[in-house]
Amino acid sequence: MAERVRIVEVGPRDGLQNEPQNVSTETKLEFISLLADAGLKTIEATAFVSPKWVPQMADHADIMRELKRREGVSYPVLVPNLRGFEAAVAAGATEVAVFAAASETFSQRNINCSIAESLERFSPVFDAALVAQVRVRGYVSCALGCPYEGAVDPARVADVATRLFDAGCYEISLGDTIGAGTPNQTKAMIAAVAQRVPVRNLAGHFHDTYGQALANVYAAIECGVRVFDASVSGLGGCPYAPGAAGNVATEDLVYMLNGMEVETGVNLDRLIAAGAFICEKLGRQTQSKVARARHKA
Ligand code: HMG
Ligand code: MG
Repeated sequence: MAERVRIVEVGPRDGLQNEPQNVSTETKLEFISLLADAGLKTIEATAFVSPKWVPQMADHADIMRELKRREGVSYPVLVPNLRGFEAAVAAGATEVAVFAAASETFSQRNINCSIAESLERFSPVFDAALVAQVRVRGYVSCALGCPYEGAVDPARVADVATRLFDAGCYEISLGDTIGAGTPNQTKAMIAAVAQRVPVRNLAGHFHDTYGQALANVYAAIECGVRVFDASVSGLGGCPYAPGAAGNVATEDLVYMLNGMEVETGVNLDRLIAAGAFICEKLGRQTQSKVARARHKA
């Protein structure tokens, strides 16, 4: 079994991009700071996407300019095109993430272009990133199903993952965007991708709509995956995946990994405090079972 797992905290981006209410830049910055206090070393901070498409991320430049960066902590941001990349780097980003999909319809709905067009759009991003020495992560959405097309062939996921990896992504995050996948499906999909991209360069990104996210993480660990995206309090969802719930709650992930004696470097109490902070600001209940159980104890 694993000795160490790296957690990519996506709460400030995936977690807040779908929130109906306005969250101030100040609150977001405080939230990011509390997540770093908890020991998280990779915190996806915001998205340099169109404010017309995702108004929740409109303050992206302010976030990156005002962020109090910690030694040893990386703050990747989502970029859909060269324009987003340039704005992100101008605001101080040193790591970005491009995002493609394994489903044509989702690609159209989410970024208004085909899968092939999206990969073409990323090409100048890879070139510019090489020059600027910016690391690029890649997402493949709909890895276990599409909100519009239903089942997605693992071979399709492997194709897109390979294209992103060959283009220069250091890591490919496989997204169960709609959170409908089950562990055996997860294993089959990872096996297909791992034939073409080394498993050490894969990450799991599981939404929890059907309550399968933690089980899917465990299945992915069994396949050799050692990097997982998670969102404190189980916040999250994609505006273009209607009905999708949040990511696996970081608290629940850390609790499980602690129980497996897998090192994460994350302090669970501090993590729960970060979750409590943002839930209070959002006026909503945590989706983390661990945070709820601790609160009652
Ligand atoms: P478009 O309308 O096809 O492109 O959008 P456009 O070039 O015609 O631009 C439209 C407007 O956006 C223009 O403004 C551009 O200037 C502006 P206008 O002239 O109308 O005033 N624009 C931008 N503004 C800021 N930053 C930019 C940028 N680019 C253009 N970078 C586009 C195409 C890709 C921009 C749009 O579709 C978009 O922003 N989509 C983002 C959708 C999104 O953020 N989805 C959620 C994140 S993905 C996700 O959650 C899944 C993930 O978690 C993994 C998983 O769970 O599977 C990662
Ligand atoms: Mg997501």
